[in-house]
Amino acid sequence: MSDRKTVQSVAMKGGELRVPGDKSISHRAAMLSALANGQSRISGFLRCEDCLNTLSAVGQLGARVEDLGDEILVDGIAGRFVQPEGLLDVGNSGTSIRLLAGLLAGQPFETIMTGDASLCSRPMERVAVPLRLMGAEVVPEGERGCAPLRVRGGELEGIDYRLPVASAQVKSCVLLAGLYARGTTRVIEPRKTRDHTERMLQAMGVDLGVDGLDVILQGAGPDLPQLRTGEWSIPGDFSSAAFWMTAAAITGSEVVLTHVGLNPRRTALLDVLRRMGCDIEVTEAPSTEWEPTGTVRVRGGQLHGTVVAGDEIPNLIDELPIVAVAGALSEGETVIADAAELRVKESDRISVVAEGLRRCGADVEERPDGMRIVGQPAVAGNAVVPTFRDHRIAMAFSVLALKAVAPVTIEDASCTGTSYPGFWVDLEQMAPGAVSSCAVCD
Ligand code: S3P
Repeated sequence: MSDRKTVQSVAMKGGELRVPGDKSISHRAAMLSALANGQSRISGFLRCEDCLNTLSAVGQLGARVEDLGDEILVDGIAGRFVQPEGLLDVGNSGTSIRLLAGLLAGQPFETIMTGDASLCSRPMERVAVPLRLMGAEVVPEGERGCAPLRVRGGELEGIDYRLPVASAQVKSCVLLAGLYARGTTRVIEPRKTRDHTERMLQAMGVDLGVDGLDVILQGAGPDLPQLRTGEWSIPGDFSSAAFWMTAAAITGSEVVLTHVGLNPRRTALLDVLRRMGCDIEVTEAPSTEWEPTGTVRVRGGQLHGTVVAGDEIPNLIDELPIVAVAGALSEGETVIADAAELRVKESDRISVVAEGLRRCGADVEERPDGMRIVGQPAVAGNAVVPTFRDHRIAMAFSVLALKAVAPVTIEDASCTGTSYPGFWVDLEQMAPGAVSSCAVCD
């Protein structure tokens, strides 16, 4: 059965859309609710493959999970998980394995986590190193420091840890282990990254402060962490909305994304698209939620190239494939720099994006930490794009196809379900007639 879809340029209809829930927040809502003292309720949980893997992992670790459809109820275990039977398989999800490693470092038993071929080729020493310093035994059992990841928890001591790379996953891992540690855990970031973990822990009553680039947390030590339960209403995922914002940008149409997360550590794409020439209006919802949300209206136009680098990178790390697409369809040059982390995402997103762009007829030069693209009004298309089953590659090139002279075929089209179930249906709504039917659809 073919798992390809062909996307062709049509008149983009645009309009209003509410994208599914935020992936990063859904992972954390499942894990932290599982840890809390009592029952938490989660609405808007993203039922993508990655987050469902986290939910099933916390179930295997002893939390009771009840899916009511519009809400998920999680009965937390008050700080002490139970040893799972067998391996925890988290599929494609880097967030699951790295954040759970932090929690498991504080448990008095051994767990082995694994995942698919992509996950088992991604670096795990970056979490193993600080967890060992805190007192856990953490062994990446794959080749070159990769998963499967064996974690034997122990009595942990707080540490001061300067992150060698800007990574919210590593920061969160250390903070979650810090909940179990004696004394203070301080994480020093080289650049600010998404702070969903910090916001949720504060909402659950954890003593956590932020001082510039330092995040400081007081651990429970021999007493187990006592987290208040939560009522989590999860906003739409800015990283999913980003595909429609960019589709409007390159086609000169208009989209309105409602109830989307507007955490400032996630929204740097808005600044980039504005610099490129888009007209963007943001209306923040008056809310008391722990995360800002609102509506984003994007009107596209004639785009011009820009430079994306430095502190901006962590705040649009997952949007860089779609930024590259925007660059390929802008006047002049777009440069992405300081983004070597892209090479260790679900695929090597620098080489995979550069290869896809080349196949579609764009002018791109791959660099160690990014790429340089010389844009044009439309790309030739008439290409098959390999995705390496990376969801964001599949979605980025589907958007590119809206401005290709001839159709573009996306391989492994079903991999969009990793983060965005319903992507193909939404593409058909935004751009009717753009997608050719195929055997594997969601
Ligand atoms: C995530 C952080 C980012 C991001 C990933 C989700 C998270 O990874 O790319 O998709 O939920 O914390 P890094 O923090 O490793 O850059």
